[in-house]
Amino acid sequence: MKQFIFVALVALICLVWTPTAIAVEQTGNRALNDINAAHLFEIHCAGCHPHGGNIIRRSKTLKSQSLKRYGVDNLEAIASLIANGKNTMSAFRDRLTDPEIQALSAYILQRAEENWHF
Ligand code: HEC
Repeated sequence: MKQFIFVALVALICLVWTPTAIAVEQTGNRALNDINAAHLFEIHCAGCHPHGGNIIRRSKTLKSQSLKRYGVDNLEAIASLIANGKNTMSAFRDRLTDPEIQALSAYILQRAEENWHF
């Protein structure tokens, strides 16, 4: 009987613990991605694109309207632009990894949706 209670207790703890542990892990990863992309943006992009603007080609900002107008309003197009560069914007494929470029692309779309507020 004692053994049964012990096994039941362990099973119960596992049931309660596992989903909590997974949830914590997922939240942690998401926070890490946000921090990385925001940090990468500050290091590599903010010099020319402060607050999602563009100090060189003023019309080509990172805001939704501009991204749409120039057809860079999806993950693929943004990632390709970051990797290969365009005109006076240099290519970043030698300085950033693929996952970093992906994270930056998602970050830009998300910030554009928020109109670069906050
Ligand atoms: C040396 C300055 C410079 C840096 C650094 C720079 N960019 Fe750019 N970026 C530009 C210029 C100039 C354009 C306009 C290119 C064109 O179409 O002629 C541009 C265009 C863009 C566009 C398309 C905007 C539009 O509306 O067409 C995106 C997206 C973008 N940059 C993202 C980034 C990201 C992400 C980084 C950092 C990894 C970055 N840029 C770093 C200068 C820069």
